[in-house]
Amino acid sequence: MARIIMQPSGKSVDCAYGDTVLMGLEKAGYALPNNCRAGACGECKVKVTGGQFDQGMVLDMALTQEERKQGYGLMCMAKPISEELTIEWGTTDAQPKLFPPREDALFVVTEKRPIAQRVVELRLRPVGQPIRYWPGQYVTIGNSRAGIPPRAYSISNAPRPDGELVFQVARDEGGVTSNWVHDQLNIGESIKISGAYGTFIGDPSVDTPVLCLAAGTGLAPILALAEAALRRGYKKPVTMLFSARTKDDVYSQGLMAWWRTKHRNFDYKVTLTRENLEGYLAGRVDVVLPQLFPDLSKHTIFAAGSPEFVDTCRATVKQLGAKDELIHTEGFFAQQQPVVANADRLLPL
Ligand SMILES: Cc1cc2nc3c(=O)[nH]c(=O)nc-3n(C[C@H](O)[C@H](O)[C@H](O)COP(=O)(O)OP(=O)(O)OC[C@H]3O[C@@H](n4cnc5c(N)ncnc54)[C@H](O)[C@@H]3O)c2cc1C
Ligand code: FES
Repeated sequence: MARIIMQPSGKSVDCAYGDTVLMGLEKAGYALPNNCRAGACGECKVKVTGGQFDQGMVLDMALTQEERKQGYGLMCMAKPISEELTIEWGTTDAQPKLFPPREDALFVVTEKRPIAQRVVELRLRPVGQPIRYWPGQYVTIGNSRAGIPPRAYSISNAPRPDGELVFQVARDEGGVTSNWVHDQLNIGESIKISGAYGTFIGDPSVDTPVLCLAAGTGLAPILALAEAALRRGYKKPVTMLFSARTKDDVYSQGLMAWWRTKHRNFDYKVTLTRENLEGYLAGRVDVVLPQLFPDLSKHTIFAAGSPEFVDTCRATVKQLGAKDELIHTEGFFAQQQPVVANADRLLPL
């Protein structure tokens, strides 16, 4: 068993013999950025300032010879061979660092399809470098030349090596940008997006059962968080409750059904607020939650959707015993300015 010490916080975690540093950190609940987990993308690069490690086979383009000389390593493949290994990771409080947002990154719309009554799904591929983000964050999309104001849209997928971003955009009656996305933005067009923004990201130190609550397109950041957690082998139960008005407003059920089949600890339920149908729960979250989860005192909660929905969720889960520090919310406020984290939470460029 080796010990991995994180600087500047000084916190440490154990790393079992044969485990990579990334595995050791993840098992202890720390979220080091990663993507390919195979020494090919460079996403998990950190500086090692003390101790020795076996780097294993990694690609030169992911870790150059110069970087090796400077002490950098790829933690998805690195295994400690000394008793202690000191790495530069996180803030002084051992919080994960966020990526500095990029302005006007060029993307191409590679796919657009309706997925529910009022929702289209967009797939965008980067022309240059992918945007780096944490699951749960959002970007702004608009078209300044056409007078379409930038609006916040949550990324609904966990980071992928090709940098593809998936969005779910609901038509807001009378709204400018969402209607432009629905009616005018076409497959093959280039658009500029900025981000990533926001701090609705998984708390890396969490090791509790998780309850995710989403209404409408609030499902987007929740899907990204769940995909990332399941991908890294999160073991505690993860339950998703999706609230929709009618069956026609429900989407991504195939993906959730696949997760439920593949991961024993994942389950999802759908509640309809304006329809009573077999196979679905009926009623708003404040009605169905107390029956499903009478005691939430040990749960971490993620809730996303309209500000009213998020407020209802917060009040309801608190009544069921959820602790303030374990409640994370993302309200889809109209025309919110992008939220950029404090400088000490940003990674150096
Ligand atoms: C962090 C975050 C993440 C988000 N993620 C998503 C997401 O993943 N998917 C998604 O679909 N949405 C998301 N949103 C919401 C999104 O950013 C937009 O607010 C939404 O798409 C509406 O934008 P719009 O330009 O179409 O509407 P706007 O033009 O901003 O109008 C909003 C509403 O105000 C009304 N309105 C406009 N002008 C007036 C006026 N003069 N008087 C009275 N009423 C008026 C419109 O009818 C409309 O109902 C997110 C929001 C935030 C803050
Ligand atoms: S995650 Fe891709 S190199 Fe480590």
